[in-house]
Amino acid sequence: MSNSPTLTNWHPATWAGRPAAQQPTYADGLALQRAVASLSRLPPLVVSWEVEALTAKLAQAQRGEQFLLQGGDCAESFEDCESDNIARRLKILLQMSLVLLQGLKKPIVRVGRFAGQYAKPRSADTETRDGITLPSYRGDNVNRPGFTPADREPDPQLLLRGYERSALTLNFVRALIDGGFADLHHPEYWDLGFLHHAPLRDAYQQIVDSIAESMDFFESMSGQRVHAASRVDFYTSHEGLHLLSEQAQTRYIERQKRWYNLSTHMPWIGMRTANIDGAHVEYFRGISNPIGVKVGASMSAEWLQELIQALNPQNQPGRLTFIHRFGIKDIEKRLPDMIHAVRATGSQVLWVCDPMHGNTETTAGGVKTRRFDNILGEVEAAFRIHREEGSMLGGVHIELTGEDVTECTGGARGLTENDLARAYRSQVDPRLNAEQALELAMLIARRAGAGYRPGKAPRLG
Ligand code: PEP
Ligand code: CO
Repeated sequence: MSNSPTLTNWHPATWAGRPAAQQPTYADGLALQRAVASLSRLPPLVVSWEVEALTAKLAQAQRGEQFLLQGGDCAESFEDCESDNIARRLKILLQMSLVLLQGLKKPIVRVGRFAGQYAKPRSADTETRDGITLPSYRGDNVNRPGFTPADREPDPQLLLRGYERSALTLNFVRALIDGGFADLHHPEYWDLGFLHHAPLRDAYQQIVDSIAESMDFFESMSGQRVHAASRVDFYTSHEGLHLLSEQAQTRYIERQKRWYNLSTHMPWIGMRTANIDGAHVEYFRGISNPIGVKVGASMSAEWLQELIQALNPQNQPGRLTFIHRFGIKDIEKRLPDMIHAVRATGSQVLWVCDPMHGNTETTAGGVKTRRFDNILGEVEAAFRIHREEGSMLGGVHIELTGEDVTECTGGARGLTENDLARAYRSQVDPRLNAEQALELAMLIARRAGAGYRPGKAPRLG
């Protein structure tokens, strides 16, 4: 991206001249201004050379040389900013990446949905319960999930609390990784206490053993230690939704002569805010980070082409990731046209499948859930359709947690709707628990690694 031109008709606030969807309404404008001003003086959470390093890796992923694993909570919560939770989430992402590395035989780019995933788009501005209507919960950066007028009042101070928690999270993640938490020489540290399903545990153990064996073999043959294996890279991402706070973290880097959003490595535009004339596209076009855009069934081929024109007119490698989330019922119908539309522009994107957001359903009892089979089915369809169309699926985007929650049904332990009440903790979308997430990674690795074979799923174990 080093030769990207500086945009002359853009600065971090030009978005304010466009319609901005999904922004909260604050009662006290002065308090909001003060909070945003404080935020803009605080140091950045990430630095531009890390952002550039991620762009380079995503460019490799576009060429099929790496694979993106992006995952984490739908919405992080302030309450969950504590050590066990962060460590467990990091661990499951690392374990999934190990499994994918072994199965796909290529390096995995790890991007967390964390350290800033605190603002949520909502389908309605208000929520009504028992005849009482209050503003919708929009994430811990904006208001609180409880159902009282005080909880739901947008509070500008929460932007600062969210920034601080992002910094605390990232600090802990960086320390764990620097301290050897993810050292491939010690995969036995990556324990599987959460895995209750024995065949899954055995299958995972085999993968870990085979990696350890290959590493031993290489090291004894070459007489060298595989240094690259003693540390892994981890990047952060969140939906760049709350534009005042994103703007406050946008900095001009003199050395690079470009603007960056330094609150995260890879912000993305959600499906509800991807209007071509909207404020979000205007804001995103001027920052130099690699960016994602969610692509849903309601988007047209022309819309995608316009997004490419607006967000990556110079066709810079690694810059643009399209995260499609059609759902199992629409992917066959919609993905081929999208691939053709992008190809017609001559521009490169990284194609990633989010098999979560198009597969949300509500049970008869009113609980939001997703079925493991639909999630797996959409990822499999994505691999196959890209292959059939001469394109390539370069990553997956998953909502998951390291906790033993019961929010999605199915998986090796066969969770049913009756299990949902037991440990349903998400304030927003249902996540895969650690066991389901690892199983998904194993199934992706097996099938993608072996080439797609239609038919019945191979059984694990
Ligand atoms: C999300 O990723 O949590 C989300 C809201 O996704 P989408 O914009 O694809 O609906
Ligand atoms: Co979500």
